Amino acid sequence: MTNSNIIQPLLRIKDIRRRFMLGETAIDALHGVSLDIHASEFLAVWGPSGSGKSTLMNIIGLIDAPTAGEVWFDGEDTHKLKDNAITDFRGKRIGFVFQSFNLVPVLSALENVMLPLQIQGVAEAAARERAAQALIDVGLGKFKSQRPDKLSGGQRQRVAIARALVVEPRLIIADEPTANLDSENSTMIIDLMRQMNRSKGVTFVFTTHDPRLLAHVDRKVLLRDGLIVEDEVTQ
Ligand SMILES: Nc1ncnc2c1ncn2[C@@H]1O[C@H](COP(=O)(O)OP(=O)(O)O)[C@@H](O)[C@H]1O
Ligand SMILES: [Mg+2]
Repeated sequence: MTNSNIIQPLLRIKDIRRRFMLGETAIDALHGVSLDIHASEFLAVWGPSGSGKSTLMNIIGLIDAPTAGEVWFDGEDTHKLKDNAITDFRGKRIGFVFQSFNLVPVLSALENVMLPLQIQGVAEAAARERAAQALIDVGLGKFKSQRPDKLSGGQRQRVAIARALVVEPRLIIADEPTANLDSENSTMIIDLMRQMNRSKGVTFVFTTHDPRLLAHVDRKVLLRDGLIVEDEVTQ
């Protein structure tokens, strides 16, 4: 093993561009974004609405491909992965948390958290056990059998965080995870992600347009009009 294995970033994006076509009109959402994210970082991407945060998160999360530029994950050039290999790669290494929680309404909290494991073919009993532990980790051990509509917004987002954590991913991407929460629950969700980052070493990247939530991040990257205009290490 060489030193390069130690310093290699978890994620390296190089000169990413993303153009959307709306009929004849080209919309350039990202104009050349480069970023290295190292394992165990806790990083916020912030900036006004329309600055390209979601576009960047979808590219980092391998949901979308850039129009130009490179995305390296764990030293692998993801452009070289075929479609089904990308799905598998993403399923094992990346967890997602969304603004709208995206829980399945007819399933209990436990069943929601079990889903990504079942998709990976983990046996039912093992999936149940791991999901139960993930709910305990986020402080919802007593809410296993509740359906989402019986939970508060903050609790729903905690279930979503448990669902992202349960596959033991390298990276969790949370696109505006607090946009539908009041300020108290927003702080609670950021604190919970921070705690999971520290205790499990999972890398977190979240986006927000609310600068008040940046108090406890290690690093904040400011996007404006599809460009990184500040990249500040704060702790
Ligand atoms: N699928 C799409 N088709 C066309 N334009 C898009 C699409 N997704 C995003 N955009 C445009 O790209 C720009 C950046 O959007 P987005 O990444 O959603 O910003 P943010 O998440 O910071 O609000 C905006 O001008 C938006 O209208
Ligand atoms: Mg967005």
